[in-house]
Amino acid sequence: MSLLDPVWTSLLYLVAAVFFILALRGLSSPRTARRGNLIGAAGALIAVLTVFLSSRLENIPWILAAIAVGSAVAAPVARRVKMTQMPQLVALFNGVGGGAAALVALLELSHTGDPWVRLAIVFTLLVGAVSFAGSGVTFAKLQELMTTRPVVFPGLPAVMAAVLLAAVAAAAVVVFTGSLPLASLLLVLGLAAGILLVLPVGGADVPIVISLLNAFTGLAVAASGLVLGNVLLVVAGTLVGASGTILTRAMAAAMGRSVAGILFGAFRGGSTAGSTAVSERPVRSSSAEDVAVLLGYAQRVIIVPGYGLAVAQGQHTAAELALALESRGIEVDFAIHPVAGRMPGHMNVLLAEANVPYESLKEMGEINPEFKTADVALVVGANDVVNPAAKTSAGSPIYGMPILEVADARQVVFLKRSMRPGFAGIENDLLYEPQTSLLFGDAKDSLAQVLGAVKAL
Ligand code: TAP
Repeated sequence: MSLLDPVWTSLLYLVAAVFFILALRGLSSPRTARRGNLIGAAGALIAVLTVFLSSRLENIPWILAAIAVGSAVAAPVARRVKMTQMPQLVALFNGVGGGAAALVALLELSHTGDPWVRLAIVFTLLVGAVSFAGSGVTFAKLQELMTTRPVVFPGLPAVMAAVLLAAVAAAAVVVFTGSLPLASLLLVLGLAAGILLVLPVGGADVPIVISLLNAFTGLAVAASGLVLGNVLLVVAGTLVGASGTILTRAMAAAMGRSVAGILFGAFRGGSTAGSTAVSERPVRSSSAEDVAVLLGYAQRVIIVPGYGLAVAQGQHTAAELALALESRGIEVDFAIHPVAGRMPGHMNVLLAEANVPYESLKEMGEINPEFKTADVALVVGANDVVNPAAKTSAGSPIYGMPILEVADARQVVFLKRSMRPGFAGIENDLLYEPQTSLLFGDAKDSLAQVLGAVKAL
């Protein structure tokens, strides 16, 4: 016998759903994000407890053991993960969600004879498997276990088309017959489709695909709610699907891309071009003292943070440098590119942690016209987001992506460790321009040296 009657169950599900909506609202601003996260976790706890109290569950020891194993693995990983590895972790958690929904759907197949429920099952199977495998490839790309450049091979579009056709055929048969072997085949085809979908995506399109896979997991979970007759799963999945879709569209718009163009453009094999070889051309390398003179006698400085600033954990030193320059009467702003770093809002979160005032963080559209009036653009651990190849090199993985127009500044200074390219794996011609100088070294060390030299001016 269950402890909760259906009315209490529905009420508690409603409470959990409201918590999820409040969590999303909280997550929309860095100030309230932490609270939003806690509210979401509380909603999930209420949901899980409600399931335990309202259903007549079998195999409770197994379920508890699975929860214990999952928690024992996930909690330490989540605690220990470095801020720069967070996107990979999110990709992994997202993929596991899609995979779990697909497995639940597969198990439910033998419990139903209703073709409509089977339709929800095949949808969950396919989309969940695509999300699981696609997220796995994204994880490998972000962790640099494989190349971050687009991977295409001759015949890829034909293979993808064949996989999708076979999946649709298998799905149709499963809906009408409930065949378990064909449903298992559908799962395998979904995994193949997920891999083939993400392999050709590279450079600036990876963040958009992460967000799209997130939306896919939401849809798979919502469909699994239909399979299980669980309203809360439908609500929670729809929230994730809708917010993921909105984020995908917003990111695609900010990057001058269309979602269809990203998914199908790669199949045309066009996004593999772009030079990867590090050229032998000379560059102008600088000392911390030279950079300090440039900055200390400027009127307007724009700092462009990127992934390398997060790796070096140099945000506090960058904030201190900005303050030191401002105390000399210099106008300083931070230019934020929508996909700088490795996750949406990465630079905002990083700089908020160092208490950089929100007014100093300028979005791309706002800051781009101002580079013309800047004496120095200080590029700290950023590369792809300032690479002019996005405008000039048709066929490069970042072609068409709007960039921060640092080349318009009178002087450009890059802080980076070597001549290695960024995530998209393509060379940046701006490094060789006459107005550019490079200060080689870890961003935090370089910033600290420049800060010391500015204070000594
Ligand atoms: P990247 O183009 O990846 O460039 C990072 C730069 O930081 C490199 O030039 C690297 O050069 C330097 N660097 C790394 N560690 C450093 C350290 N400790 N000290 C100093 N420099 C260091 O970064 P970006 O300009 O921020 O662009 C982001 C890229 O990631 C885009 O291609 C974007 O599409 C992709 N991406 C973004 C997201 C989201 S949502 N933001 C998600 C996935 C992928 P050295 O190695 O020579 O130091």
